[in-house]
Amino acid sequence: MTIEIEESNVSLGAKIRGLKLNALSEKDWIEVHKAFLKYAVLIFPEQHLTQEEQEQFSARFGKIENLVDNLKTIPLTNKASNGELYEQDSEWMKLLKGNEGWHTDSSYMPLAAKASILSARIVPTTGGETEWADMRAGYEALDNATQKKIEHLNAYHSYFHSQAKIGHTVKQGAGYGFNASDAPLHPLVKTHPETKIPALFIGRHIHIIQGLSEKKTEKLVAKLTDIACKKGTTLLHKWKPGDLVVWDNRCVLHRALPYPLTEERLMLHTRVAGDSRSERAINHATA
Ligand code: OGA
Ligand code: MN
Repeated sequence: MTIEIEESNVSLGAKIRGLKLNALSEKDWIEVHKAFLKYAVLIFPEQHLTQEEQEQFSARFGKIENLVDNLKTIPLTNKASNGELYEQDSEWMKLLKGNEGWHTDSSYMPLAAKASILSARIVPTTGGETEWADMRAGYEALDNATQKKIEHLNAYHSYFHSQAKIGHTVKQGAGYGFNASDAPLHPLVKTHPETKIPALFIGRHIHIIQGLSEKKTEKLVAKLTDIACKKGTTLLHKWKPGDLVVWDNRCVLHRALPYPLTEERLMLHTRVAGDSRSERAINHATA
């Protein structure tokens, strides 16, 4: 089989066909990795991987993060184990709801994520798409004065505060930024460790930019997000069961789109940890 790359019509994203991710040769992996660095979001239609195969593919990118309950893969689902859809105001639905704001995964943890892998099992008839925005193009789109202004700024990322904004009180826990000062601190602009391309590192988890008030932080982050996630520049994927997507959290933001509350959606999420040399928070350095 030959690998087929269909570029999107925006600055990020490509669809890849002609590969079976559960039987990837070394040669194919090299192509996939090259495409990952170039396009930042790779969509693989009709893969239908098992959970184990998804984890094996994810492990190609690095060490898999332990997520909620120490799982390597979490089912993002609105259906409870008793077969009923969760109540909208339940804790779990608030966690899912948070995904509808632009974010990058694990920026609120001492080690931010490198990549995320998401596959579709059950999709609603309408809505429930995922959208990505290119933070390399976002940085480039800023005027010189703004680039200069933010170049040396750092921001505290806090899950506690981002969830509080949508009415979700997260219990105090390590790496969740309960105390503003131990919330992980990351630069607003980061050089990609592999491509060396500068990219904005923003998203809904930013609580405070060091040296700015909460109000000024909000205003600046909103401005940057508006520019970097401008309509017409983003990539939207309408899922079909069996599709798998991998994205580079180091240079893209993503969000889920809403869907009817009466319909089921089941996605499998696996997350790959960042490299300690480039994704570790400034204030969580290890010896
Ligand atoms: C994620 C995420 C969005 C979606 O998996 O990290 O934010 O569309 N998902 O479910
Ligand atoms: Mn996410």
